[in-house]
Amino acid sequence: MSFPGWKKYIEEGDLVIVYMTRENMTPIFMKKGTVFQNRFGVYKHDDIIGKEYGSKLVSSNYRGFVYLLHPTPELWTLVLPHRTQILYIADISFITTLLDMKPGVNVIESGTGSGSFSHSIARTIAPTGRLYSFEYHQDRANLAQVEFNEHGFGDIIKMHHRDVCKDGFQMKDQVNAVFLDLPAPWDAVASAKEAFKQDRTGKICCFSPCIEQVARSVAALDEHGFIDITMYECLIREHTVAPIQKVDFSVAIKDAQDRKAKGLPSVESVAIKRKLGKDEPVPTAEEVEEAANLMLVSRTMGETRGHTSYLTFATFLPPSATRIVDENVPENDSN
Ligand SMILES: C[S@@+](CC[C@H](N)C(=O)[O-])C[C@H]1O[C@@H](n2cnc3c(N)ncnc32)[C@H](O)[C@@H]1O
Repeated sequence: MSFPGWKKYIEEGDLVIVYMTRENMTPIFMKKGTVFQNRFGVYKHDDIIGKEYGSKLVSSNYRGFVYLLHPTPELWTLVLPHRTQILYIADISFITTLLDMKPGVNVIESGTGSGSFSHSIARTIAPTGRLYSFEYHQDRANLAQVEFNEHGFGDIIKMHHRDVCKDGFQMKDQVNAVFLDLPAPWDAVASAKEAFKQDRTGKICCFSPCIEQVARSVAALDEHGFIDITMYECLIREHTVAPIQKVDFSVAIKDAQDRKAKGLPSVESVAIKRKLGKDEPVPTAEEVEEAANLMLVSRTMGETRGHTSYLTFATFLPPSATRIVDENVPENDSN
């Protein structure tokens, strides 16, 4: 089974992402003679093996069903066993783009953590790129190695058990991009600088939850000659589908006239006082269909989900480019 490739039919030994709802998915390795069970019924692996990825499978008692999905880095991020805090898709896609990751690129990441970002990086740089992943927690490093092998990334991801802040990456002139998700990324900046390919520009990103960490990373990046230092924050604004009352204008006009005649406040002023969506139970799709006077609309959620981390990006300039810049500075320029 491999994440990087794609195949049509499920075979014994494959990892299948069993989808029940958007919030409820689980990864399962297929093994003949075993079953998967949830509160809606039993699903035999023997019935799953041989089916097409993407199929719908009804439980043996016909009370429930699941979808059998092909694994992807995006789905893995949603179902993986959490050993640490992890990166999610909004940050992953943004960092992947700004670090110029593509097939053939060599990347350093530290720490590996739960391997959420590692899967997306490996898929992006495959088949010829290499990800050098560093983790100083022995068990996390071992478990990540097992998962990378099981998921077909054994050749692409080179796992190292090391404290990179103390012992560095011990790499020279090898990578195009560096990603640091560490409590003290500034301690790894000098070593990261040596690891960049020295004949071209490279990109680095430090992922830190606190602004004080950003300040220290920016100072270290600046001190080591990185340029274009820029910090971003990714926030997700979700939309939801909710029922609202349909408006019949003739009824609404008559209602407004009646309310005015009786000296009651207008419907709008009452509605404005209500907190939109707060504490209101959301009806099921069936209830909505039954209520002929309701219609479904899309609206933004009342709150924007909080901050994950600050993303500090910078560009590594090769020594040759730095020399050109220095040579172009007039000798009598004291700045
Ligand atoms: C937040 S987790 C990384 C999560 C990862 N980006 C993901 O998406 O799953 C941070 C990891 O860095 C590791 N770490 C912290 N300091 C380290 C150091 N000096 N050298 C190597 N790893 C370190 C921790 O053990 C932890 O597993």
